[in-house]
Amino acid sequence: MAASDQPTGQRTPETLVDLVAAARRARERAIAPFSNFRVGAALETADGTIVTGCNIENATYGLTICAERVAVFKALSEGHRAFTRLALVVDMPSPTPPCGACRQILWEFGGNLEILLANLTEDTGRHWLGDLLPLPFDARLL
Ligand code: THU
Repeated sequence: MAASDQPTGQRTPETLVDLVAAARRARERAIAPFSNFRVGAALETADGTIVTGCNIENATYGLTICAERVAVFKALSEGHRAFTRLALVVDMPSPTPPCGACRQILWEFGGNLEILLANLTEDTGRHWLGDLLPLPFDARLL
């Protein structure tokens, strides 16, 4: 079943709009002088708090950190431990899903999150993280 078909519980559609709007604002703070590919993320915690992230590049390229992981690590460092969904925004016409490294971190710390994809003007997709990362490796296997 597509995530868009799932009930959203207590969440109102306005909450989803707010989350995407927060990701769009976060994208404006991206530090991406090498790729010029600016990404914004907004992570919703179980208590409704929104924690944002943007991609941050540096001169070694390889130490770049994606918007999603910035959001997750910020949230964890602020004491949040339970999450419901993440919005991801890029300025592209087609959907841009989280990279593999981010899928792993999102899964380990957020479980089966709802992933909302959007660009600057419209929603471009809605997925369950479990569908994006089938057969995951995680602490249950250690
Ligand atoms: N990027 C993200 O922020 N999230 C992703 O899921 C994919 C890639 C960033 C990393 C880099 O700064 C730029 O996009 C191009 O790969």
